[in-house]
Amino acid sequence: MHSASWRAATVLASVLLVGTMAACGNSDTGGGGTKDDGKITMGFSQVGAESGWRTANTTSIKESATAAGIELKFDDAQQKQENQIKAIRNYIQQKVDVIAFSPVVESGWDTVLKEAKDAGIPVILTDRSVDSADKTLYKTFLGSDFVKEGKLAGEWLVEQKKTATGPVNIVELQGNTGAAPANDRKKGFGEAIAANPNLKIIASQPGDFTRAGGKQVMEQFLKANKQIDVLFAHNDDMGLGALEAITAAGKVPGKDITIITVDAVKDGMQALADGKFNFIAECSPLLGPQLMDLAKKVHAGETVPARIETEETTFTQEQAKEALPNRKY
Ligand code: AHR
Repeated sequence: MHSASWRAATVLASVLLVGTMAACGNSDTGGGGTKDDGKITMGFSQVGAESGWRTANTTSIKESATAAGIELKFDDAQQKQENQIKAIRNYIQQKVDVIAFSPVVESGWDTVLKEAKDAGIPVILTDRSVDSADKTLYKTFLGSDFVKEGKLAGEWLVEQKKTATGPVNIVELQGNTGAAPANDRKKGFGEAIAANPNLKIIASQPGDFTRAGGKQVMEQFLKANKQIDVLFAHNDDMGLGALEAITAAGKVPGKDITIITVDAVKDGMQALADGKFNFIAECSPLLGPQLMDLAKKVHAGETVPARIETEETTFTQEQAKEALPNRKY
């Protein structure tokens, strides 16, 4: 090749190379860590591993990330807000493309969410929401309507006890203090049972969404209260823990004490089918596929709905028997 043609070819190659690099984008700009392979990286901060629901949710997220070709950085916060804040700050430093998290409590997120926003990293809330007044701090919230779940549980009880002529004593096992599902399920249930003044919550304590917590608090309830007619547990796991305490106290769960829970995980559904629980309001943990879809959309700069509500149902003992064989989690 003549030297003039050689120089022209070299210049052309450089122009093409620069052009290609510009088209691929730069991982240090535009608020994300898209690498040259074009893969989206998601930093996910999970609440913990407190319940069967949470385990199913974690599995759903991990499997869906793999299926969607999204690189997942996963952190288990062990039910501590400070661990979640630390994980989110790490993800900001690592310049991930999208941050998603399920906030252990509702309050106290504004500062770290602002840091993510300033770094240009979109945030998706999943399962639980935050109480931030500034809704621009996150792109969307994907999850259940917890108030509705509490309301459905309460309405079922109102119907069951419509002929009650005297007081119906209810004890309540709450989720961890300050968590959206604990606040909202309490609210929805309380509003629904207000329809019948005979229905009274005589004791209400947090059992932290765990079996151990449910068992321990139920033991205290049984010691302190002679007559307990109904238990409303904010999740299956606390209800399952409470079963042990109720049986140990010589009472028959599902008969001497009516038991209502939330979630409908396999163990809860088994207890319902076996007649130990009486009613479950479903809360679906299978949020992974929708979450990955949303991550792709927000990363591409598409507008997504501010709120995406999970579809859910309720189960009686008969319905649990039918649904159990196909229950995946
Ligand atoms: O936020 C969802 C709740 O968290 C589930 O109902 C409970 O089981 C979990 O720990």
